Parts: sequence; structure tokens; C-alpha cells
Amino acid sequence: MTEESRPVPQHIAIIMDGNGRWAKQQHQPRFMGHRAGVKAVEAIVKHCIELDVKVLSLFAFSSENWRRPSKEVSLLMELFNLALRQQVKRLHKNNIRLRIIGDLTKFSSSLQNKIEESQLLTENNTGLTLNIAANYGGRWDVVQAVQTIAKKVKAGEVDADAISEQMISDSLATAILPEPDLFIRTGGEQRVSNFLLWQMAYTEFFFTNTLWPDFDAMALDKAIGSFTQRERRFGQTSEQLQEQSDA
Ligand code: IPE
Ligand code: IPE
Ligand code: MG
Repeated sequence: MTEESRPVPQHIAIIMDGNGRWAKQQHQPRFMGHRAGVKAVEAIVKHCIELDVKVLSLFAFSSENWRRPSKEVSLLMELFNLALRQQVKRLHKNNIRLRIIGDLTKFSSSLQNKIEESQLLTENNTGLTLNIAANYGGRWDVVQAVQTIAKKVKAGEVDADAISEQMISDSLATAILPEPDLFIRTGGEQRVSNFLLWQMAYTEFFFTNTLWPDFDAMALDKAIGSFTQRERRFGQTSEQLQEQSDA
């Protein structure tokens, strides 16, 4: 496939990191970095729609982020709540399907209700799927998938020997979504921090030092530009891929 004809990634997954350091640079409290981070989300969502990306997964709060000072955790919860309240109508108007993945039982009941309501409102939208990971952990996701399957085995609905990769994929929080093609992490760290562990087995990784609040449409274009230059071999050889695209 030529570089020009290589499609944009269908599913982009992003670890939006660096809000705290951005705020520090500006001599502002960390919270201001998170606020600026929400603004950056708006711009990236808009650009994904322009590029016809099908799914955008954003890591908003990890299962490990509860370990932060309680003041920061509650400010993050407030911000999440506020962003949902302020943005859902606009998302709906833009035909965006909103999904929130993670262990939602740890959130306040009003936040859980708002999440449920927002998902219901947008579930039949056919544009971008915006998948927000909140109190999400890749290991949590595998555990809850295994529990779901184990219950089916116990109930006699599934034979243990019939458990397959597909069945596990289908039991994950991302079940109905394609796997990420491109993973981006801003903020300079080169780690996965317990994001979509199972789902990113063959995802292309892109790391940038840009802090999340500074990540804009141009920065996204750069990441996609890197993606389109890569050859995804999925275990095959370059020659095999060449033959298949010639055929
Ligand atoms: C990412 O930015 C946002 C969340 C984890 C909620 P950070 O808050 O981790 O920012 P840094 O890494 O401290 O700069
Ligand atoms: C990962 O960022 C989680 C989110 C962006 C929500 P962290 O800043 O929490 O990751 P670590 O702790 O540096 O790995
Ligand atoms: Mg961080």
C-alpha cells in the first residue's frame, strides 16, 4: 500500500498526560491544568470528526489515580461531572455516541446517573464514538471479563474449553468497538499505565513530549502522519503484505 492510500486510524486511543506539569509551567495549581485539559479534549474531538476517525478512546481517570491527594481526586470528579453536564447536548448534536468505560460503581450515584443518561441519549448516534475511560484499568477489564465468562461456565452456558480470544474480547468493556489502531501518549512518559492492555496487542504506539493541554489538531496530524508511514505486519513479512496488496 502506498503511503497516500493508507487510511487514517479508525480507532485512536490517547493517554492524556501532563496536565499537572502544564499548570506548573504556568505557575498555576494542578487543577488549572486539568481544566485546560478539558479544552484540549474539545479540540481533538472536533478534529477526529473532521478526519472521519470512528472511535476515540480517552483515558480520563485510571484505577490508580485514586491514590492522588483526595483534594485533587474530588476536583477531578467535579470536573468530570461538570464536563458531562455541559457537553452532552453538544456531543449529541454532533451525532457523537458517548460511552464511559471503567468501574463506575465507585462514582457517586448522581454521577453514575448522569453517565447512564448521557449514554442512553447518544447510543443511537452514528458519528464518532467517544469512549471515555474513567476509573478504568486494563487489568480490571480483564478481571471483569473473566468473571463474566466464569459465571457463564458455572451456569452451564459455556464450555470451559470453548473459551476463546474472541469471547474474552467480547466480554471486555470495549466489546463492541474495534481495537485501537493508534495509541498516543502525551506528556513524555513511555508507558501504558494500565490502559487498554488486551486491546492494544497490535496497536501502533506514538509518544510525544507535548503536554496534554498543548496537544492540538496539528499535533494529532503529526501522530497520524507517523502512523501512516508504518507497516503493520501482524506477524507476516513485508513481502507477503506486498503480494496481498498487489493481488
Ligand atoms: C493527566 O495529567 C490527567 C490525569 C491523570 C487525570 P496528570 O495530572 O497526570 O499530569 P502530570 O503527569 O502530573 O503532569
Ligand atoms: C495515566 O496518567 C492516567 C491518565 C491519564 C488518566 P498518570 O499520570 O496517572 O500515569 P503514571 O502514574 O505517570 O503512570
Ligand atoms: Mg501524569
